[in-house]
Amino acid sequence: MHRRGGEDKIGIKMVDSYQEDEIQALIVLAELTEPAETANNNFYKFYPKSMEEAQTYFRRFALNLSTAFETLAEKGLLHKEDDNWSLTRAGKSTADDIRRLRPPIWYWYKDFYIANEHSQAFSEYCRLVFGKDLGQHGFSDIDQINRMLEIVKPDETLQVLDIGCGNGGIAEYISDLTQASVTGVDYIAEAIDQALERTEDKRNRLHFIVGNIEALDFEDDSFDIILSIDSIFFGRDLKTTLAGLRKIIKPDGQIAIFCEEDLSSALKENGLAYRVYDFSEEHYVHMQLKHQIASGMQQAFADEGNTFIWENLMRESIASPEPYNRDTSSTSRYLYHVKKD
Ligand SMILES: C[S@@+](CC[C@H](N)C(=O)[O-])C[C@H]1O[C@@H](n2cnc3c(N)ncnc32)[C@H](O)[C@@H]1O
Repeated sequence: MHRRGGEDKIGIKMVDSYQEDEIQALIVLAELTEPAETANNNFYKFYPKSMEEAQTYFRRFALNLSTAFETLAEKGLLHKEDDNWSLTRAGKSTADDIRRLRPPIWYWYKDFYIANEHSQAFSEYCRLVFGKDLGQHGFSDIDQINRMLEIVKPDETLQVLDIGCGNGGIAEYISDLTQASVTGVDYIAEAIDQALERTEDKRNRLHFIVGNIEALDFEDDSFDIILSIDSIFFGRDLKTTLAGLRKIIKPDGQIAIFCEEDLSSALKENGLAYRVYDFSEEHYVHMQLKHQIASGMQQAFADEGNTFIWENLMRESIASPEPYNRDTSSTSRYLYHVKKD
């Protein structure tokens, strides 16, 4: 696996050049003056009316912003009039770029990975719902993961990339099972730190890197297999994300993508041939199981102060006891198996 380094295609290095309080100050002012339904955050509607309200965007990471307003003014990004701060033209453009890379869901995932590291309730939930606790935050139970592995067949000679790997439980499971060399990428540093710490003695075949799936920093033709398990749609532009994967996969490489959406036209636009496996029915049953298990665990999550995780698990589940009906169900799930050549 070779990293390319150097490019800043979507402004990641630009964002990293600001302090966290400066980032928050820019986002807060953008939200107060021109609220936006942030890309990469479905159904996000915010429209805050006060500074306090706007700061709920950052959840438990909200900082005191008074120094940041001053430093941003020195950089020409803010100005002050009648005791009120506002964005300059340059400030607005910077704030918009930052908001795109740091949508509320980025802060949600940061919160989630910090909380789940020590959550017995989440561990138990994963074991009951997924059949094995790999710290999953998607919809792939162990059966689905194993079936995906039967299709792509990783082995000790192959380089695998797992994009949106979270804290790396699935990547570790795959490498332990197949001895393949697996690299996991996720944009939440806390998740990557947990993965690195847990797998310290497996560094010969497991690597984890903080990165963004829209701007993967690897040389062309680096990987034999790329896996995307419930992560492909987090990029802001699907076609661009797939084009990025196409470049870093070897000429005879494969891509396996689990998702709930129809990828066919984006894959075709990228000249990628694929076979699709329909998991919709078992996804429906899985979502019912999620509801059943999560319903009985409200107190366990509340006792840990992790009700926000429980609420998310309830939202991602199906309450109806009705059996699956292909003609009426809006639930879908597919595994796309792509071969580059
Ligand atoms: C639904 S979770 C799936 C996690 C894991 N693949 C699983 O199945 O359990 C989506 C993951 O993608 C990560 N993610 C979202 N947007 C990302 C981006 N633009 N770049 C890198 N990682 C991202 C999140 O932090 C999260 O870990």
